[in-house]
Amino acid sequence: MRIGIAFDLKSDFEADPSGPEDALEEYDNRATVDAIAGVLTELGHTAELFGGGRRFIERMLASPPDLVFNIAEGQGSRSREAHVPAVCEMLKVPCTHSDPLTLSVTLDKAIAKRIAASLGVATPRFAVVESTADLRHLALAFPMIVKPVFEGSSIGIRRHSRVTDAAGLSREVTRIVGDYDQPALVEEFCTGPEFTVGILGEGSAARAIGVMEIVPRKARAEEFVYSLEVKRDWENEVEYHVPPRRDPAVVTGIAACALAAYRALGCRDVSRVDVRLDASGTPCFLEVNPLPGLNPRTGDLCILSARSGLPYSGLIDAIVRGALSRYGRI
Ligand SMILES: Nc1ncnc2c1ncn2[C@@H]1O[C@H](COP(=O)(O)OP(=O)(O)O)[C@@H](O)[C@H]1O
Ligand SMILES: [Mg+2]
Repeated sequence: MRIGIAFDLKSDFEADPSGPEDALEEYDNRATVDAIAGVLTELGHTAELFGGGRRFIERMLASPPDLVFNIAEGQGSRSREAHVPAVCEMLKVPCTHSDPLTLSVTLDKAIAKRIAASLGVATPRFAVVESTADLRHLALAFPMIVKPVFEGSSIGIRRHSRVTDAAGLSREVTRIVGDYDQPALVEEFCTGPEFTVGILGEGSAARAIGVMEIVPRKARAEEFVYSLEVKRDWENEVEYHVPPRRDPAVVTGIAACALAAYRALGCRDVSRVDVRLDASGTPCFLEVNPLPGLNPRTGDLCILSARSGLPYSGLIDAIVRGALSRYGRI
C-alpha cells in the first residue's frame, strides 16, 4: 500500500525573533518522520514523504496515496490541526488519526473541556480570560494554572504558570495574552499526581493501552507542572512509571476518565489523554492530544506504549490498521 506521511518539521518554519522562544515547539523533527517511514516500510508498505502545507496539497493532487499517515500540526489558527484531514476528506483519501472536527475541538482546550464535562467527565473548573479586566469576576480558587487556550506541547507553559495569588494570576494572564495572541485558559490546579493515558481505536472499540505516571524528581509533587522546561530536560526532571505505582483501582479510574473523554470528543485511531487527580483523589481530564508525538525515543505515547508491551512498530501498525478498517480496506 502507498502511504503518504503528512508532517510539519520545525525546520520548515522561520522563528519570529520577536515572538516567544517556544513558538515552533509542536513541530516534528526529521528523525520522527524517518522512524515512522521505517516502520511502514518494514510492514511492507511504500512510505512517501508528503510533508505539509502547500507541498502536501500539491502532492495529493498530483498523486494521491492509498492512505495518509497524518502527524501534521498545521499552521496558524486554532483549526490548524484540521487542515490535512480536511484536504483528505475533500479528496476522498483515507487518513489516519481523528477527523477535522475532533482535531479542531481538541486544540481549543476550553471547548474540549465543555464537551467532556457535558458528558459527565470530571475536569478542573475554569474560565477563559481575554484580559486582566476579566479577572475581577473570576470565581475560582487558588492555586490556579494559566495556559494558552489553543496550544499544545507545553507552549506557553512554564514552572511559574502555576499561580497562588492575584499578582501571579495577573502576571501570567498578561504574559499569555501578550505573547501568544489568544485568550488565556485559567484553571483550578489539581494538586494530586499526574498521569497520561495511551488510547487506540474508535468509538466503543477504543481501549486504553497503558497508563503512565509522570513523577517529578525535583519539584514537590503537589506543585509539579509538566512545563516546557521539564519536557525539554525530561531525563533529569521526571521519572515515568508504567504501570503507575498505585492501587489498581485508582489506575482503572484514571483509564476510565481518559477513555470517556476520548469517546466524548470523537477521537479515533490514537490519542494520549492527560489526567490528574484533584485534592480529593478524583481523576480529572486536562486535555487530549489526538496527534501525540511519535518520536520513538522521546514521545510520551511511545514510551508508555513500549513499557506496556506494545513496541513502536506495533503502535504504528495499530494506527494504520485502525484507519484501514474504518475505510473497509482490511
Ligand atoms: N488544571 C491543572 N491542574 C494541575 N496541573 C495542570 C493543570 N493543567 C495543566 N497542568 C500541568 O501543566 C501541564 C501542561 O498542561 P496541558 O494542559 O497538558 O498542556 P499541553 O498541551 O501543553 O501539554 C500538565 O501536564 C500538568 O503538569
Ligand atoms: Mg499535555
